[in-house]
Amino acid sequence: MKKSVVVLGTQWGDEGKGKIVDLLTERADAVVRYQGGHNAGHTLIINDEKTVLHLIPSGILRAGVKCYIGNGVVIEPNALIKEIKNLEASGVDVQSRLYISKSAPVIMPYHIKLDQLREAKKGKAAIGTTGRGIGPSYEDKVARRGIRVGDLLNAEVLKEKLTTVLEYHNFVIENYHQAEPLDFDEVYKDALAQAAFIKNMCVDVTGALHQHLDEGEKLLMEGAQGSLLDIDHGTYPFVTSSNTTSGSASTGSGLGATQIDYVLGITKAYTTRVGGGPFPTELFDDDGAELAKRGVEFGATTGRPRRCGWLDLVALKRAVQVNGVTGLCVTKLDVLDTFKTIKLCTSYNSSFPGSADEWENVKPEYKTFPGWQSSTRGMTELDDLPSAARELLDYIATFTGAPVHMVSTGPDRSENILLVDPMN
Ligand code: GDP
Ligand code: IMO
Ligand code: MG
Repeated sequence: MKKSVVVLGTQWGDEGKGKIVDLLTERADAVVRYQGGHNAGHTLIINDEKTVLHLIPSGILRAGVKCYIGNGVVIEPNALIKEIKNLEASGVDVQSRLYISKSAPVIMPYHIKLDQLREAKKGKAAIGTTGRGIGPSYEDKVARRGIRVGDLLNAEVLKEKLTTVLEYHNFVIENYHQAEPLDFDEVYKDALAQAAFIKNMCVDVTGALHQHLDEGEKLLMEGAQGSLLDIDHGTYPFVTSSNTTSGSASTGSGLGATQIDYVLGITKAYTTRVGGGPFPTELFDDDGAELAKRGVEFGATTGRPRRCGWLDLVALKRAVQVNGVTGLCVTKLDVLDTFKTIKLCTSYNSSFPGSADEWENVKPEYKTFPGWQSSTRGMTELDDLPSAARELLDYIATFTGAPVHMVSTGPDRSENILLVDPMN
């Protein structure tokens, strides 16, 4: 019997984590976000109705499920409040079952400004961040000058911390970026108003999660981004600023490493990336355009077109290793339905890259598989899949050393093949 299950991305994000978390939440008591922030965009489609979640865990659409935002998440209060209000406007009960860690770092207006100023300054070398202030907020956390949710709740503490930290950042904004500094009174006033809104939802999340475990309840840990965006294991510096790999599920929530029972690695049947940086299997031809069109590959947060390419098994195998993946979920298999042949990258011309220039110089080598050229959309049984599709899945499992436990055959909650239930 599994007590806690981690669902995370094994590529550059947008693997379909939100859809799978929503599906598995049927058998969970609580869903927990443990890293990242509102750079994430998790899409849920239920009976043709689309919801995109950024900060709120993808369990929120199941009545009665508790949703936690752990200490590892960077929280932009404005974005959070907007998301709460939007969901409530569509009839979802949020405030009575959303809990926010008082230890989570806050994304303040100067973080957003700095993120955008830095990207503009970098010009062509820009990372292509979501411009949400994610990096600068994590930097303040590590520099031990960050403002946490708990600090927002105490007007005096907030005033003192904000005075010091704003002086520091305004110096950089004015003198390094030659931009307009932020006004203390305005930032302070806004922060107090935001604090008043979220106050009743702020709790000791770690304590609450352990209570769930003590009572024999099940936790679903929802990752954001993907392994190749991990600050340590990804394509640095073209990465996000958190650890997106499974260790974060522990540090970003307060569960012990031994309390993680299962890690579900989500991978698309091909690859996408949004933003800049190396992407060895990227396609610039008709196949790439076909993947983008059939997969409707536009960012759920920024609306930017996603770059597309073949599935990279070398990178996937590494993701399986660094995350300790128990089982894989292969999503968007249906997107490959029209292809005559399908390629999988099975080796690089070098050892696994460890630096930016090594990543840039990777040359992928491929194995070509026959396509099936028939519709798999919405299939729910493995036996119904064409044999060529099953052979592709078998190859992925054998190559990476991780069994395929789930297959997703369409964007809707109901379009899945469940081979082994991660929740049991
Ligand atoms: P996340 O960030 O990992 O939650 O993924 P996103 O929501 O950003 O992007 C995944 C996109 O693919 C969304 O638009 C989903 O609705 C869609 N999607 C998820 N699974 C499938 C699938 O199996 N087939 C198809 N065609 N679309 C899917
Ligand atoms: P989900 O959870 C895809 C990318 C950005 C950029 C880099 C750094 O929906 O999979 P940041 O704003 O985090 O400093 O940007 O990371 N990125 C994502 N790409 N999916 C995401 O989240 C992403 N979150 C950040 O595009 O390249
Ligand atoms: Mg996304």
